[in-house]
Amino acid sequence: MVFVSREGAPWRDEWSLEPGLAYLNHGGFGLTPNSVLAVQDSWRARIERNPTRFLTFELEDLLREATAKVAAAVKAKSEDLVFVENATSGLNAVLRGMDFEPGDEILMTSLAYPAIRKAGLYAASRVGARLVEAEIKLPLTSDADILRAVASRLTKRTRLAVFDHVASHSAIVMPVAMLTRIAHEAGASVMIDGAHAPGMIALDVPAVGADWYVGNLHKWFFAPRSCGFLWAAKPVQAGTHPLAISHGFTEGFRVEFEWTGTRDVTAALAAPAGIDFHARLGGAALMTRNQDLVREAATELARDWGTDLIAPAANFAAMAVVRLPLAGDTTPARAGALMRELAERHNVAAAVVFLADALWVRIAAQAYNEPADYRRLAPLFRRTA
Ligand SMILES: Cc1ncc(COP(=O)(O)O)c(C=O)c1O
Repeated sequence: MVFVSREGAPWRDEWSLEPGLAYLNHGGFGLTPNSVLAVQDSWRARIERNPTRFLTFELEDLLREATAKVAAAVKAKSEDLVFVENATSGLNAVLRGMDFEPGDEILMTSLAYPAIRKAGLYAASRVGARLVEAEIKLPLTSDADILRAVASRLTKRTRLAVFDHVASHSAIVMPVAMLTRIAHEAGASVMIDGAHAPGMIALDVPAVGADWYVGNLHKWFFAPRSCGFLWAAKPVQAGTHPLAISHGFTEGFRVEFEWTGTRDVTAALAAPAGIDFHARLGGAALMTRNQDLVREAATELARDWGTDLIAPAANFAAMAVVRLPLAGDTTPARAGALMRELAERHNVAAAVVFLADALWVRIAAQAYNEPADYRRLAPLFRRTA
């Protein structure tokens, strides 16, 4: 399939973006197409016609149908995958559910999402275990550097290793299958934080080989917020529980996660509509188009500013990170101030990040973007180069 191109109006009218806004932060929170929101609305309307009937008698089968669609999209078996509210809750469910012991180690890399690093710290600190960080030097030169850094921090005390599939701030696509293999060889269990991966890159979850894989559907697979999944390999399913224990406890992995208390299930039920929308725009071809667009835009900005990328272009999928041509005050606070300035003064939504003692801009590409969106960034920083 090819990306279904619409010259001059790249699908923007499928979303409700403000006119004039250059939205370069699809990775931040996703962006739900209007047609998917309409499907979610119809679920909500159906529930409200008789919540008792829906939630008591109909929900389980409907959730299983939606789960089957999501599982097929990531090449998983339906019975191994459950919906979670978001990546944070899926990752926390595993981190909080493991029975770590004093002296155990949880391994993450320095590219891990800060919120998940905190979740790891919390899980470790409660029992006298340790969070260990493998430092990845930036700018990255090759995957071999990641593998070497991780290998050097694996010990016989490593109980769990958590690797990002697509790292958040650096946008680096990590060699997760190889990382999983070396962590397993060292005797550790492995969880992949795939918050950005589903819908951004071709994904075969079981082939990664991890024990758990957590993904978001509300970012790149166009599901409404908030919607993600947790996949668990068969041997670890019995020991994997949702953060909220409810009626399903002792009923097995799927049933436990299907009811975690009364909640809004409409995002999960509308997730298949998001996946269909992704396919309508080309599926694999859409992902390739987004990757090409963002790599080209990042390379062009770096050339214009006389700077560099945080990793080889081959390590970027639909997001890329370019060094800003700024000296002097390079602090996390300045990154926040610049991001706000871009939004408020220039109508550009893009993440400004502080990494390796420098400031960078993370840009993302989605079907509603075109090259002109990224060119708006160039003159904003050129003058200070
Ligand atoms: C790598 C990574 N992990 C976890 C998360 C958390 O995702 P959520 O806020 O949807 O739970 C993010 C969010 O961007 C992320 O980039």
